[in-house]
Amino acid sequence: MTIEKEELEYTSKTVRSRALYDEALAVMPGGNSRTTTFFDPYPFYVERGQGAHVWDADGVDRLDFNGNYTSLVLGHAPLEVVKAVQQVAEHGLSFPGPTEHEIRLAEQLTRRIPSLETVRFTNSGTEATMNAVRLARASTGRPKIAKFEGAFHGTHDWVMVSVTPDPKSAGGARRPKPVAASAGVPPAVLKHVVVLPWNDAEACAAILEREGSSLAAVLVDPLLGIGGIIPPADGFLARLRELTERHGILLIFDEVISFRVAMGGAQERFGVRPDLTTLGKIIGGGLPVGAFGGRRDIMDFYDPRRGGARISQGGTFNANPVTMAAGLATLNALTPDAYARLDALGDRLRGGVTRLLEGTRRRGQVSGVGSLFCLHWTSAKLSDYRSSRPKDGDAPTRVFLGLLNEGILLSQRGMGACSLAMGEEDVDRFVNALARVLARG
Ligand SMILES: Cc1ncc(COP(=O)(O)O)c(C=O)c1O
Repeated sequence: MTIEKEELEYTSKTVRSRALYDEALAVMPGGNSRTTTFFDPYPFYVERGQGAHVWDADGVDRLDFNGNYTSLVLGHAPLEVVKAVQQVAEHGLSFPGPTEHEIRLAEQLTRRIPSLETVRFTNSGTEATMNAVRLARASTGRPKIAKFEGAFHGTHDWVMVSVTPDPKSAGGARRPKPVAASAGVPPAVLKHVVVLPWNDAEACAAILEREGSSLAAVLVDPLLGIGGIIPPADGFLARLRELTERHGILLIFDEVISFRVAMGGAQERFGVRPDLTTLGKIIGGGLPVGAFGGRRDIMDFYDPRRGGARISQGGTFNANPVTMAAGLATLNALTPDAYARLDALGDRLRGGVTRLLEGTRRRGQVSGVGSLFCLHWTSAKLSDYRSSRPKDGDAPTRVFLGLLNEGILLSQRGMGACSLAMGEEDVDRFVNALARVLARG
């Protein structure tokens, strides 16, 4: 089926959403407040979510493999989290001062992640990476940072570089050029951000050799999450650790997505200890959140005692008690058994999709780690951002809309996550729905 036909079916099922969207157009640019969630012809409006399902304004039920972009590891409205939120909210929503809840979540995080000696909270992953980058500059006295081509770290200027660049204007694969990912990113940013190729240790070594003395940090999403969940090659993260140490560069793991792959995140799974870590998504239990932390000697730049903070980090809603309680209730549910279940669901899904694609001889494959996965519409060996670009540029949209019409929600580029609200039958439903979508186009 063509995109147009999938759109036609979608619009026929989402009449009330269309009407709401028309109202939204009058008061928001393109009717939108969150670029990521928009898709043509218009997004459906969510009415409620429960467990693994969301229902839209027209009452259509969809099995949710998006999970608010991997945040909802327990599924929608899990009882223990909702109860924790209600209990805390009854006593006030936010205060001009700390509450015990933030200590308890900080304890839980520092226990799970040994490299996280101390931690601070923010309201988003964007603020977390913004602070980590500032901290790296402050503590090293160096001006530049390095990030990987294809990696997304939020929407502040310093990381809006080479997120989804057109390779034609992004330089050679082994020496990528910084490309602004948005209008309004100042040219100064492009002079201060060095772009690295994912999984090419020798090219990274050469770039770090050249730029090392002016680099404050190498910022790494250990799974290249939004770039397609492309796991690090064997030894790649360890090599980055060794190179950054050699050049006096701080290694920052952005675990906003990858934290969900193990009790202690990707750094536990791959056995590499960064200097700083940024967090978000699941640690807020579905509410707005971010956090950053790491080596105590570096984090002490924020120590405000006797007016001594060298970096100020305000934030009206930082560490607000409702988010902290939701996060704690979520992490309490993430036991070793829970991780084993998440891994098994992810493995089953990847196995099913792989068998399906082999059977149809499509140019497609599925990547992932643990409960995270991403569909790719290329048969190239997946190693980095460039190799994951679809051979048929329409395929991700066609599959996304096709799955919506089959009652399955994914992200537009094909990234998804299994949640603890799912069972094997849900994963099998995903594979069967994908089979039907592929069979018609
Ligand atoms: C790795 C990574 N870092 C940072 C962010 C930004 O987080 P937020 O959307 O909470 O600002 C994201 C969001 O998807 C992310 O995937």
